[in-house]
Amino acid sequence: MALVDSSSERYAAPVRWMHWIVFACVLAAYASINLFELFPRGSAARANVLAAHYLAGLAVLLLVLPRFWLRSRHLTPTIVPPLDRWADLLGKTTHLALYMFLLVQPILGVVTLQVGGKPVTFFGITLLRAFVAAPNRELSHRLEDIHATIGTIFYWVIGLHILAALWHHCVRRDNTLRRMF
Ligand code: HEM
Ligand code: HEM
Repeated sequence: MALVDSSSERYAAPVRWMHWIVFACVLAAYASINLFELFPRGSAARANVLAAHYLAGLAVLLLVLPRFWLRSRHLTPTIVPPLDRWADLLGKTTHLALYMFLLVQPILGVVTLQVGGKPVTFFGITLLRAFVAAPNRELSHRLEDIHATIGTIFYWVIGLHILAALWHHCVRRDNTLRRMF
């Protein structure tokens, strides 16, 4: 059952909150993995930012299903003035790609660690123990490469999403961005 009708001015509050909380988690996942590169191998700081990466990524994974669920319960408020067909389609495709990313990227991160026989730890606390009895380091490295490539591709997709939001607000001057605040 939809809780909000599509003529409402903004997304429903839980949808808006979820959008920005997940955004913060994705930002934290990217920020921590970029910081990670700056610290020397074997240093405590490097281990800590990697742990922060795992935690932020796991938060995305935990939130993605509740987010799908919320999304299915609330209608999208109408964009005024209405979009051309191409813009509507591009937006829907980008959102679908973003949803897939939010689901697949953290799962791939967890699978990479599991296949490598490594637990997910956070400051000495085991969040997820290693279940795989016979680790396969080569496969784990291949999965890590795919995880890194998807991460790079989505810099661009997220960038496109942000540019689109700004285009709506500053160039087209419609209500798209305001609906998310
Ligand atoms: C939305 C969530 C996530 C994003 C955006 C993300 C993004 C990235 C990116 C961009 C890299 C590549 C860094 C490079 O260029 O080498 C990376 C590396 C990695 N990520 Fe994630 N990740 C996410 C979630 C996770 C999760 C949940 C885990 C596991 C619990 C994980 C485990 C790893 C590991 C093990 C590496 C390799 C680190 C190394 O070089 O040793 N990631 N991640
Ligand atoms: C990690 C970064 C982000 C991700 C993964 C993300 C993901 C999404 C997804 C999946 C939707 C579809 C909403 C739905 O149908 O429930 C959406 C909508 C939206 N996002 Fe983001 N978002 C991100 C960052 C941002 C930022 C930084 C902005 C603003 C500058 C923004 C502005 C919007 C707006 C205005 C909408 C509504 C678009 C519409 O209804 O056509 N997003 N976002």
